[in-house]
Amino acid sequence: MQNRSAQTILILNLRYILLIRADIITMSGGEIFQLEQDEELRIEVDCPKDKTVSVELKSGMAEIFGTELVQNTPYEFPSGAKFSVFTYHGCQVMVRGRSEISPYTSKETPMITYANVHAGLEELRQAAENAGPAAAANQTSGGPAGGDGASADVSGKGPVVLVVGPTDVGKSTLCRLLLNYAVRMGRRPLYVDLDVGQV
Ligand SMILES: Nc1ncnc2c1ncn2[C@@H]1O[C@H](COP(=O)(O)OP(=O)(O)OP(=O)(O)O)[C@@H](O)[C@H]1O
Ligand SMILES: [Mg+2]
Repeated sequence: MQNRSAQTILILNLRYILLIRADIITMSGGEIFQLEQDEELRIEVDCPKDKTVSVELKSGMAEIFGTELVQNTPYEFPSGAKFSVFTYHGCQVMVRGRSEISPYTSKETPMITYANVHAGLEELRQAAENAGPAAAANQTSGGPAGGDGASADVSGKGPVVLVVGPTDVGKSTLCRLLLNYAVRMGRRPLYVDLDVGQV
């Protein structure tokens, strides 16, 4: 008998394509960006080493790589940071601090794909959980593993995913995002970064 496990390979090759100037309100101390539904604000912090750029959610809901932002709370980012603030429903974000590259919004975002990957993984986890006790019972009785094998892992193990792609395209970030979404579902994932090159 062969154990089947759900295996997925995600190939990342993100290249940022579409640049759209956002609705910007300039205020003393910063700029407020109005983001529409499913839009992201990209920020590349290219300021002096001793300075930071701060991001503050003023209204609506938004997240950075799966971590929800708390309204009216400034988040500081050091020189060299590169990230996007994404919103599913629209929001206003204030950015303080100067960078060589001005923040810009884009509708061209991998976030919907990422959210779908999360949903797919969660479905496989639930199927594995449901198959788990049945599979264990079958193994004890010596019978074949249960389940129809369509999507559930008959051994009761969760999905296994291999994320591959060229250097610096967002592989680790995707893993972090999936981790954050899993936590938001009430799961307790463990993240081990064994890439010594990142230290
Ligand atoms: N969707 C995204 N939007 C904006 N910035 C992103 C996005 N995904 C990743 N980044 C940024 O791109 C940079 C590279 O991301 P990351 O470290 O995840 O890439 P990687 O593929 O794991 O790189 P490496 O090959 O070095 O391990 C980071 O600064 C990260 O914050
Ligand atoms: Mg990495």
